[in-house]
Amino acid sequence: MKLFLDTGNIEDIRIAAETGLVDGVTTNPSLIAKEGKPFVPTLKKIAKIVQKHNKRAVINGEVVSTDFSGMMKEALRLVRLTPNMIIKIPLIPDGLKAVYALHKKKIGTNVTLCFTAAQALLAAKAGATYISPFIGRLDDITSEGMEVVGEIRQIYDNYGYPTEILVASVRSPRQITDAALVGADICTLPTKIYHQLFKHPLTDTGLQKFLADWEAYQKKQK
Ligand code: G3P
Repeated sequence: MKLFLDTGNIEDIRIAAETGLVDGVTTNPSLIAKEGKPFVPTLKKIAKIVQKHNKRAVINGEVVSTDFSGMMKEALRLVRLTPNMIIKIPLIPDGLKAVYALHKKKIGTNVTLCFTAAQALLAAKAGATYISPFIGRLDDITSEGMEVVGEIRQIYDNYGYPTEILVASVRSPRQITDAALVGADICTLPTKIYHQLFKHPLTDTGLQKFLADWEAYQKKQK
């Protein structure tokens, strides 16, 4: 399963990407606005950083128009910034029309703000590269986000749709395991959760014990 970072913070991306385990970055208007930096240079920098450590890593930049021609204009401007650009488009009728048009031009898309398997079916029919179910926001309203991911997996497998399932709006490390178990293709994570994935208290105490035993052994050898 691929791991993306869900952030617009350059420094966080730089640190995490050094592990070589980052397959891409997702941004959205809220994440970019949070950083308060200019949009285009930020996207360019992110694209360069992730590719330095992983040649196949992608960057997802989102359009803010809500009409077909506006989305197409923005999309064509974004893909010119870097060859690893994926266009994030909201799951609305004009959005899927743009996804279909971009698919015909062989431009990669990520259909965002997906909350049902039926929406995901439409995105796959339009030729989306990725579909982004927002599991945390579903859980927030006491729905089961991961159940929707399971339904999408089943539907895509039933019909052989190549659209990859990108689990978004992740709130805890456990959700990465659950996403992998239901067969999601990608998870996009806030950087805090990415770092939490490495951690377990028994790993830390186990390592301390190994190092203490080694030090004692070294002393005895002298
Ligand atoms: O990138 C979109 C998505 O991951 C947003 O997450 O935490 O704002 O629901 P959140």
